[in-house]
Amino acid sequence: MSHIRGRFEKEADKSVLEYTESVRYDWRLYRQDIAGSIAHAKMLARQHIIEEGDAKDIIRGLEAIRDEIEEGQFHFDTKLEDIHMNIESSLIDKIGMLGKKLHTARSRNDQVALDLRLYVKEKTSQSISKLRELQSALVSLAEKNKEVIMPGYTHLQPAQPVLFAHHLLAYFEMLQRDIDRFRDCLKRVDVMPLGSGAVAGVTYNIDREFLARELGFSQISLNSMDAVSDRDFVLDYETAASICMMHLSRLAEEIIVWSSQEFGYIELDDAYATGSSIMPQKKNPDIAELARGKTGRIYGRLMAMLTTMKALPLSYNRDLQEDKEGLFDSIDTLLSTVEVFSGMVSTIIVRRDNINKTLKSDYILATDLADYLVRKGEAFRSAHSAVASLVAFAEKMGKLFSELSIEEYQRFSPLFKNDVYSITIDTSLAARNGIGGTAPTQVERSLKAAKRVLDEDKR
Ligand code: ARG
Repeated sequence: MSHIRGRFEKEADKSVLEYTESVRYDWRLYRQDIAGSIAHAKMLARQHIIEEGDAKDIIRGLEAIRDEIEEGQFHFDTKLEDIHMNIESSLIDKIGMLGKKLHTARSRNDQVALDLRLYVKEKTSQSISKLRELQSALVSLAEKNKEVIMPGYTHLQPAQPVLFAHHLLAYFEMLQRDIDRFRDCLKRVDVMPLGSGAVAGVTYNIDREFLARELGFSQISLNSMDAVSDRDFVLDYETAASICMMHLSRLAEEIIVWSSQEFGYIELDDAYATGSSIMPQKKNPDIAELARGKTGRIYGRLMAMLTTMKALPLSYNRDLQEDKEGLFDSIDTLLSTVEVFSGMVSTIIVRRDNINKTLKSDYILATDLADYLVRKGEAFRSAHSAVASLVAFAEKMGKLFSELSIEEYQRFSPLFKNDVYSITIDTSLAARNGIGGTAPTQVERSLKAAKRVLDEDKR
């Protein structure tokens, strides 16, 4: 670190080095750091700021360092603070004085902003493809169980019959919006900050457009102070990850409830369930529980970074180094959760007989009975109250709707006629035939649309 301690008379205290170093975690930006430096060296040569031959040597040196890191041969030194200084110092060891030219027209402030943007771009795209896989697992589970009917719940009480596929496709929609949110993040992270220098820009005749092209950015940043000091693209990712994880936690909860003995709607594949160390009979949905639990830490990372950034004056402040651990953790947690969910969801075994049992009681058709009265001319509120009394009566008699006589029906409304017996679970489903409803034709249509979305994406 001697080259950045030029003006000091003492080496930093050991506790200071330990407190300030970040290479422990930012080493993972090595590929982005090296890619950025290679582009920078090329640009410096093109602009005649350094010699062509020097740039070539620098690039070769950087590539050798990348190989060493990838082969596990590179020694990361915490005394060199961060990944940027580690790589630069190793470059100087390798190619001598020449290596010292690389940092011309650049600061670690624009360098780290670049590295992190490159990293977030890559991980955002990866998050999108993993979410696609989970969507596709949901679609195939829905497709395989197209005819399964289950109670649709409100307040976790059986409300109206729905297709199991309809329930699953609700998550397809949520994930679709999550993907949109990540795509939106991609637009804003796709901005090349190099050339901002430490704070004010640089004094050399650099070519920022060239850098952007080399590094695959579609735009360059337009204010150097903003470029080195904002991390809203980190917050963007963490926000999208938080909302996505909230969705996953709901799916997790359903899986936990559905796989409980009391529900028994699904069984998890052995490969995606865990046992108990003491109770041999148990098969636990630990993956879903962990995902539900990890949602807290993803939210926490977002709150931490929002708080870190709050009221920070322009431009770069060391506080910003706190962006990485939270971001990396959010990314790792989200990616691993989505990946393991794809496996878990695609191997779910649906216990149709258990689901069918829940539909034995036809009280779930109460809304349909009310709608029936409305069609016969009753006002909805009066129909609702007539059917409510009918339910109470049937319950008291220990009878299903289908077991009530027409005289019994007519005690609650004279509008009940024999055709009331033609109301069944199937007619109830089929009647909900508007766009977005659970009628089999609508669900079939949604399945097709979902598959189209997935196919288009593959192309
Ligand atoms: N490790 C630093 C970070 O993560 C890199 C930038 C350091 N710049 C500085 N002026 N100390 O933010």
